[in-house]
Amino acid sequence: MRPVDLIRKKRDGAEHTREEIAALVNGYTAGSIPDYQMSAWLMAVLLRGMSRTEIAALTELMLNSGATMDLSSIPGKKVDKHSTGGVGDKTSFILAAIVAAAGLTVPMISGRGLGHTGGTLDKLESIPGFNVNLSTEQFMHVLKTCGCGLIGQTAEIAPADKKLYALRDVTGTVESPALICASIMSKKLAEGIDALVLDVKTGSGAFMKKKEDAIHLAELMVETGQQMGKRVAALITDMDQPLGRTVGNSLEILECIEIMRGDSHPLSHDLRTLSVELSAWMFFLTDSVTSVDSGRNRAEEMLTSGKALAKFKEILRLQGGGDISVVDKPSRLPHSSHTTEFKSTRDGFITAVQCEYVGTASLTLGGGRSKKEDSIDHAVGLVLHKKVGDTVKTGDSICTVHYNAVTPGWEDRLAQALEILNDSYEVGEKPPTSRPPLIHQVIGKALSAHAD
Ligand code: URA
Repeated sequence: MRPVDLIRKKRDGAEHTREEIAALVNGYTAGSIPDYQMSAWLMAVLLRGMSRTEIAALTELMLNSGATMDLSSIPGKKVDKHSTGGVGDKTSFILAAIVAAAGLTVPMISGRGLGHTGGTLDKLESIPGFNVNLSTEQFMHVLKTCGCGLIGQTAEIAPADKKLYALRDVTGTVESPALICASIMSKKLAEGIDALVLDVKTGSGAFMKKKEDAIHLAELMVETGQQMGKRVAALITDMDQPLGRTVGNSLEILECIEIMRGDSHPLSHDLRTLSVELSAWMFFLTDSVTSVDSGRNRAEEMLTSGKALAKFKEILRLQGGGDISVVDKPSRLPHSSHTTEFKSTRDGFITAVQCEYVGTASLTLGGGRSKKEDSIDHAVGLVLHKKVGDTVKTGDSICTVHYNAVTPGWEDRLAQALEILNDSYEVGEKPPTSRPPLIHQVIGKALSAHAD
């Protein structure tokens, strides 16, 4: 089976057999199919789509490209959450600490930044000493000791996704429901979990800009997970503006610490609310509570009692000796050498944000990758002072831009980021007539009669 024939077949809109998908996935993972051919195939998939049968086969083949984790030696339920990716999306750190503090096991295998969206692993690596590259053995030790571990894909877990994810990031082939479903579900199903909560983003900063596309993706993933015997629900959540008030790796970690310390900023309210909601569903799907409402109460209790913060410190300590002092002294997190204000040039209201551009502005400053081999500047990013609906006066700062003036070309990158921000924010005379809800709907709710 020649890769070029399979590329042509998908290019022309035909359906692959399982054997053909296996040839592509296995050939690429083993290195016999080069990046350029796989890129062409991925683009054909993005443009032509895949049937449910093809998606199921792709997910299973990617899952079986490596090992799956056996967590049966750890007592109790295991649960995880995965987001399809957004801007300022940092709920993982908060909810992992909340849910593990309540006694569940959260074996979280995450990814790096993808396209304009940030990645959990990149954010974690802004904490001095934090090691996301644990072996399966080390990961098991962390899980047994504190109930939560946050790592990248080990060499053993879904290696096909690891390679494909990096290739999609730089070939404009992320936004395919089939590829996103297979990527997320192959990793998550390898974790040995009982239940999974999916945060499927929709809006200008999401890969699924339209709500109906997000619902379609959510249904695909819920169906795939349920077919594999897992309890899965998906929350369709808003990404029409960044979540919380920071965008950028270490800035986002700091915002999470503020929430867990109980001294969060009012503009972090949406982030805190969503973290509690996702935790509530994690409690609910594992039968730790009898209703989502009780799940919310449990999550609140973990936050307000300080137990989630204590758990976060424990995770930092266990994962390669991450510097736990950052929790009490956040100044120890990497910070940029310079800041400048992005200011409003008129009076009015923030009526809309092109959220993807905000993510791209942070990436342009060095907070994300443009090429597979790019390294990340953890300190750069944005601190927002205005959200949709807020009033602004001429000269008010809409956001503070954190940048470093070190690597060659920084002046151009800063100018470009400011230009992108200029295109991101709309200021109008009247406030927006309606604002999208933070949570649009839940898919997979019918799983249980108790859901409220
Ligand atoms: N997150 C993933 O893990 N994979 C995708 O394709 C998109 C978001």
